[in-house]
Amino acid sequence: MRKSAFSLILLTLLCSRGESVPKDGALAIPHLRQQGEAVQLIVGGKPLLMLAGELGNSSASDAASMRWIWPKLKNMHLNTALVPIYWELIEPEEGRFEFALVDSILQAARANDLKLVLLWFGTWKNSMSCYAPLWVKSDPVRFPRARTRAGEPQEILTPFSAENLQADVRAFTALMRHLRKMDEKEQTVVMVQVENEIGMIPDARDHCREADKRFAEAVPADLVAYMQKNKKTLHARLREAWEKQGSPVRGNWETLFGIGLATDEFFMAWHFARYTDEVARAGKAEYPLPMYVNAALIRPGYQPGQYPSAGPLPHLIDIWRAGAPQIDFLAPDIYFRNFREWAVQYDVPGNPLFIPEVGNDQSPANAFYAIGEHDAMGYSPFSVEDLADPGRNPLSRAYALLRQLQPLLITHQGKGSMRGVLLDSTGQHARIEMGDYLLRIRHEYSWSYARREEGVMPRYGGLFLRLADDEFIVAGTGLIIEVAPRAEGVRAGIGSVEEGRMIEGVWHSGRRLNGDQTHQGRHIQLPGQDYTMLRVKLYSYR
Ligand code: DGJ
Repeated sequence: MRKSAFSLILLTLLCSRGESVPKDGALAIPHLRQQGEAVQLIVGGKPLLMLAGELGNSSASDAASMRWIWPKLKNMHLNTALVPIYWELIEPEEGRFEFALVDSILQAARANDLKLVLLWFGTWKNSMSCYAPLWVKSDPVRFPRARTRAGEPQEILTPFSAENLQADVRAFTALMRHLRKMDEKEQTVVMVQVENEIGMIPDARDHCREADKRFAEAVPADLVAYMQKNKKTLHARLREAWEKQGSPVRGNWETLFGIGLATDEFFMAWHFARYTDEVARAGKAEYPLPMYVNAALIRPGYQPGQYPSAGPLPHLIDIWRAGAPQIDFLAPDIYFRNFREWAVQYDVPGNPLFIPEVGNDQSPANAFYAIGEHDAMGYSPFSVEDLADPGRNPLSRAYALLRQLQPLLITHQGKGSMRGVLLDSTGQHARIEMGDYLLRIRHEYSWSYARREEGVMPRYGGLFLRLADDEFIVAGTGLIIEVAPRAEGVRAGIGSVEEGRMIEGVWHSGRRLNGDQTHQGRHIQLPGQDYTMLRVKLYSYR
């Protein structure tokens, strides 16, 4: 009786928040939902901000050797793990599926309070097809390869083969069917990555016979219709190439976009997207979890083919969207140091920012920036299990703090009340508006009294959460913050600075900071040795 009354209240609550609830009262499966400008991942009826890490490529191939990993992830305060699922292991012989390893991963994640994003290492993994089962790889007649311009076959399955596609579709379908059976109730798996870092090398496009034939054909009407409909918002590189040709709506790829590597890449991106879309469509027909693709980014000065051409890169977002409507978003794997520049390019209308991979040697200050400035859905260093000193390393300290803040962050996502900054030797200053005030933020090393390591300028950063026009929370590391009024004719001062803890979304005050800790009321400081947060109240006077 009490239980059904509770279910009714829960159902009413969820319905009033626009949540999709099946008729039997069970919670909807994980899905994406818009909140203001942000997209949130909803799991068990609640938004999940993924404080995640991705396992190394071979780590998830044996249940026993994974035993030490799970508690380590929990110890580092992760709430989500990105774990590969290998085609060669789930379908060792054609049509015979083995899911014992997948089931053990589900169980271990549940036992350690972790959600999972599964990475489908199917047809492609970092351009190559090394995770295809041997029965696929050893039969290039039935499962044809991509070829170079010179005609050499590569260890890459061509997307121009129905047989390749159907083999991947069958395996992925079996996986998604199995997941629905084993996990729909528990919702351990919250999202799926389809393939991994798709891209063509060493040429910008595939040159197998079927690819050449398709290259000479008319650009598909679906893509042309998309470009016509979205002409104003097309990525400049696609729009300019098309305009340079006079914006034709009929003709082959070179007629529409000109002759050159850029056109080869557009063509290839379309066909990668179509293939991936078919895989995702078949998987979603079994179990419609959110699905995304990840990109290997471009090394400065590299041309398509030198870098993995035609993957889900910023300049190809329109082609991927038009060709792969089943893919919910595109995501960057950020190993380069210019984290900010790549994050900005993936936080575009209709594409929420999720960072499935970032070098595990990068500063976790990135996470504060991505969440604060870009409403990121999640952040995930690669090979996270290899980090030393779990429980105390920088990622662990950063995630412990972000987990405290999580309820508040989720409430603020998409509402324009959060900001993030990232400072290092390439930019040591930032300015942001917070309510009635202007915050002048600088790298801690720009203050002569700061504790510093000789010879290096670490990356520091943080996020700012506006609570009222004169009050905010700042969380992160290594920042000095001075305040100024936005209004003319007044001066601004620091009213109070408090340490504290967030427990279930409620602030519990700790020490009141002042004197040396605020440079006698001149500034607010987050020390660079740790990840901390402060609640700050400002005031103005004449
Ligand atoms: C990016 C890939 O997506 C990962 O699987 C891994 O290979 C890393 N690069 C580098 O180790």
